[in-house]
Amino acid sequence: FGLMGYDPAFLNTANCKSAITFIDGDKGILEYRGYPIEQLAEKSSFLEVAYLLLKGELPTQKELENFTFNVTHHTLVHENIKSFIDGFRYDAHPMAMLGSTVAALSAFYPDAKNIKDARSREIQITRLIAKMPTLAAFSYRHAMGLPFVYPDNDLSYVANFLAMIKRIGTSAFKVHPTLEKALDVLFILHADHEQNCSTTSVRTVGSSQVDPYSAVAAGVGALYGPLHGGANEAVLRMLREIGSKANIPEFIKQVKGGEGEKKLMGFGHRVYKSYDPRAKVIKRVADEVFDVTGKNPLLEIALELERIALEDEYFVKRKLYPNVDFYSGLIYEAMGFQAEMFPVLFAIPRTVGWCAQWEEMVTDNEQKIARPRQVFTGAARRDYVAQDKRK
Ligand code: SDX
Repeated sequence: FGLMGYDPAFLNTANCKSAITFIDGDKGILEYRGYPIEQLAEKSSFLEVAYLLLKGELPTQKELENFTFNVTHHTLVHENIKSFIDGFRYDAHPMAMLGSTVAALSAFYPDAKNIKDARSREIQITRLIAKMPTLAAFSYRHAMGLPFVYPDNDLSYVANFLAMIKRIGTSAFKVHPTLEKALDVLFILHADHEQNCSTTSVRTVGSSQVDPYSAVAAGVGALYGPLHGGANEAVLRMLREIGSKANIPEFIKQVKGGEGEKKLMGFGHRVYKSYDPRAKVIKRVADEVFDVTGKNPLLEIALELERIALEDEYFVKRKLYPNVDFYSGLIYEAMGFQAEMFPVLFAIPRTVGWCAQWEEMVTDNEQKIARPRQVFTGAARRDYVAQDKRK
């Protein structure tokens, strides 16, 4: 069996062949189209990284201006999408609303079925990247019982999103250049990550040659899970459950003795058997954010929990280190986001990776529909038994 527990041929669609993102889990290396994530986080911007992931090269100034213009001018959604969101209960989870509305876009853009046409693919991908923040913001404001705020095309990608989220008259969101820059860096870090659960879902659904909205909606569904995109929401719940640094040893004891039911959320990774390089960058971003927002009181517990776990044989032996989710939730909460929004904040940037991987797959002429085979473990062949003969 191959790396992922399946022979790549079984999966067929995930292909496990891609030129987009490289990960070395033992060395803690992550590169987008050959560029180290640390350099992109420090020197690039989210839309420039989006261009890189989609096109394979860093854009010239003119190329980036055109790409930014196109994304900026596709942020609006059809007015009927608003009534679609209004149909949800007041307490609907924003991630559930996001997945439903992304799938609904498939009905608004029937030309998206022309997946073999490069121009059509480019338009749909631009729409997806542009409209995700708007759908996310509308879902959030519906959940908060607040009126929708329309996108403002004079603002940058991140500033536009924050402006659509910002609650009227409350200081919950300190819209501040440091926070905008921090969110842009977090979007870069979350943009793509090879054949993770949600990207494989997008590739699998997309391999049936369905439109990209339907394929991306499958990715949103996978990312909603607590073991994937829901992990940073679970980290904050875990830190609140621990409550103080003094309680950490008892919590660690429950994890180690719990036969795997109780996990240290934000720790461990299917591929990284070393420190997730994104978590290192996020820790730096956290310091900058907390300088503006004030330190999240849970940070001290998180830092002590990491220190203890990294010295504990149970975690060391299993190569369990902090992953991208261990600190990101602390930052989002300090910015003013509710925990329900954390997986949504993951889905917005990951839409770029899903689109890049979807396009790589649909333009691969050897691509076939996903049709994994199984290892049958059921009953051997047997004949039908009349009802009056059954025991
Ligand atoms: C993301 O794939 C990606 O790239 C995903 C992602 C992306 O960008 O798309 O990086 C984003 O999803 C990050 C992961 C977020 N999830 C969490 O933080 C949830 C907590 N982590 C675990 O659920 C777990 O580590 C996984 C799901 C992330 C990975 O699980 P695996 O690969 O199934 O872990 P494993 O089978 O290799 O575990 C080996 C051992 C097991 O114990 P034993 O059976 O050997 O006794 O380690 C244990 C596991 O029980 N273990 C943990 C643990 N993770 C694994 N024990 C305690 N706490 C944990 N977090």
